Amino acid sequence: MPVTDTDLFLPVRLGPYQLANRIVMAPLTRSRAGAGDVPRPMAAKYYGQRASAGLIISEATQISPQGKGYAWTPGIHSTEQVAGWKAVTAAVHAKGSRIFLQLWHVGRISHPDLQPGGALPVAPSAIRPNVEAFTETGLKPTVTPRALEVSELPGIVDDYRRACENALQAGFDGVEVHAANGYLLDQFLRDGANRRTDAYGGSVENRVRFPLEVTRAAIAVCGADRVGIRISPINSRNDLVDSNPEPVFTHLVDRLNDFGIAYIHVIEGVTGGPREVEGGFDLGKLRTRFGGLYMANNGYTLDLALAARRQNKADLIAFGKPFISNPDLVARLARNAPLSAPDPATFYGGDEHGYTDYPELETA
Ligand code: PHB
Repeated sequence: MPVTDTDLFLPVRLGPYQLANRIVMAPLTRSRAGAGDVPRPMAAKYYGQRASAGLIISEATQISPQGKGYAWTPGIHSTEQVAGWKAVTAAVHAKGSRIFLQLWHVGRISHPDLQPGGALPVAPSAIRPNVEAFTETGLKPTVTPRALEVSELPGIVDDYRRACENALQAGFDGVEVHAANGYLLDQFLRDGANRRTDAYGGSVENRVRFPLEVTRAAIAVCGADRVGIRISPINSRNDLVDSNPEPVFTHLVDRLNDFGIAYIHVIEGVTGGPREVEGGFDLGKLRTRFGGLYMANNGYTLDLALAARRQNKADLIAFGKPFISNPDLVARLARNAPLSAPDPATFYGGDEHGYTDYPELETA
């Protein structure tokens, strides 16, 4: 039975673009890049298969060699990587969809094995996260990162700026600043990882400073209407805690609203986990403070998405894992058809199996 009485499957404006519908393919790390962290041709096939989404956010993509934290993730800092991504954006555009690149610096969620010259990963403060790093030779305990000197921060902003220039050159329609899930920008936001005593730590204003500098650099390259940001305000992923997240994210969203960026992409709850979190706060408050689009994510089903639109709780709904195993997710949702379940064994690394070989409904 087709799903009617909803605008979920109708066009919507995002910045300069008319998206075909309100369904977004969330960024999904798949760890299948080739030598030099270059997206392989199968990535173009994978993204092209999923281009009935109104918008695709690319898998998290390192802005610099230092920004890398997982084996086989792609970058956007070399000419070869730009060429690899060109095939991806062309495949998506050929199907009439839009694709933003997600800009990633992992900070302390890395390992010397993944860093240039075996260097220590960097972070706001030298505090080791209690997690394991995904290296080419398996999971390894993280090490204590090196605290960034304040004099190094402009260089990282420059890396973001160059990554944005490369993204546009590769044909991306915009960029998403990854400020979620315990990676570098989130580390700056949270007092559990940021104990700095300079202008980048301490007060809410100071902790928000670096993520805002990065966002400003992205806006300078792409224009505010082609920039979004991903946040996970009540998430403890990657061992990241905050004594009081609400004022941090309230302030951040207010400033982003001043900037006029296109959207905020909010992970509601624990990434890939529960939507309700003890000690969390009402994320709806962020939506009402922000004039751009609110992209909701985390554990959405068709019913939750329909309800979110009916109650006007979100403008766009991002689906993650369902897009892995349902390349035609939009058509399936629109028909309220069954979804196939993804195989976690093929989430990270490997070849086309579990990547481009999930069938569409007609042939399933
Ligand atoms: C992951 O590899 O599981 C991953 C990567 C980036 C995220 C979240 C999860 O933001």
